[in-house]
Amino acid sequence: MKLSQKNMTAKVMKIDNVAPEPEILNQGCDLLNAGELVAFPTETVYGLGANALNPQAVKKIYEAKGRPSQNPLIVHVAEWEAITPLVRSISQRAKKLAETFWPGPLTLIFPKSELIPDIVTGGGDTVAIRIPSHPVALALLKQCGLPLAAPSANRSNALSPTTAQHVLESLGDRIPLILDGGPTQQGIESTVVDVSTTSPKILRYGALPVSEIEKHVGPCERPARVGASTLPSPGMLAKHYSPITPLECVEENLMELVADYAQQGLRIGVVTFGTEVPNGVNLGTQAQEAGRKLYEVLHELDRQKFDRIVAELPPPWDEWLAIRDRLQRASA
Ligand code: TXA
Ligand code: MG
Repeated sequence: MKLSQKNMTAKVMKIDNVAPEPEILNQGCDLLNAGELVAFPTETVYGLGANALNPQAVKKIYEAKGRPSQNPLIVHVAEWEAITPLVRSISQRAKKLAETFWPGPLTLIFPKSELIPDIVTGGGDTVAIRIPSHPVALALLKQCGLPLAAPSANRSNALSPTTAQHVLESLGDRIPLILDGGPTQQGIESTVVDVSTTSPKILRYGALPVSEIEKHVGPCERPARVGASTLPSPGMLAKHYSPITPLECVEENLMELVADYAQQGLRIGVVTFGTEVPNGVNLGTQAQEAGRKLYEVLHELDRQKFDRIVAELPPPWDEWLAIRDRLQRASA
């Protein structure tokens, strides 16, 4: 951490979610153009943005998050045309998925051009790109005219932020500005797909279900099981997206485990998907709705400093895979 970044206090500026105020966006743009970091809402989670073409600016992202330098970043752009200079080629599959799902919670992998600094891609030859759909993210990208490298705006391995308050708690002493557009709509990160190779590969489950992607490009390779030894994407590291409180996932016999812990005198926070447990948080049986609330609830349970969080795993159906994935990583 550089001295200049120590003891900073982030300014939090409310911004309109539908028609973002240009004067507020301007403050963000000035900082981004000066090589500083700005946190902003996307439809998935809050991102921590820096000018993707400025290696010194991108370095500040890794420093602020405490992120390992080999874990590459997603580059965000406002429109399709902005991609051409950033990549060496665009496959038919990439084009099709982009046309169908952008702007939206999908990240595509491309062979990178010389313009993309190595620090953005962790030294790799490919770059992850997405066009977000959040009006604030889009307006910021348009107004500053820069591609923005932006990981989730949290310290490395911690829970992703779905509100400006989450960003403030995690990074408030390390960044100058947070644009507060209220809670994010999706609440789970984008789905990451590699379409640069012969068969499409899902690298990270996310807000866009795999079945939706497969409708357009056919069967996709799925990510390695959580805890498997070879990992296609650094974000697939087993331990990730974690609350501070130890979290345990259960596939069945939830009630027995909860009763067991109660008997041992432990204070337990419980998260379920349909099952009613006294004092538990039931996120319901609708995956999209549950995804929207998941991180918010885990942040809240963390604040309550339970001895343990017990989470029921939702069914292994397509629309639940991102939530299962995050819970399993949180418990790794
Ligand atoms: O929804 C999202 O994707 C949010 C918002 C802010 O856009 N961003 C986000 O970024 O979740 P981050 O850095 O927390 O996660 C990026 C994921 C990681 O799993 C990373 O390893 C993977 O994308 N990734 C980035 N570049 C890659 C590349 N060139 N090849 C393979 N995986 C890559
Ligand atoms: Mg992240």
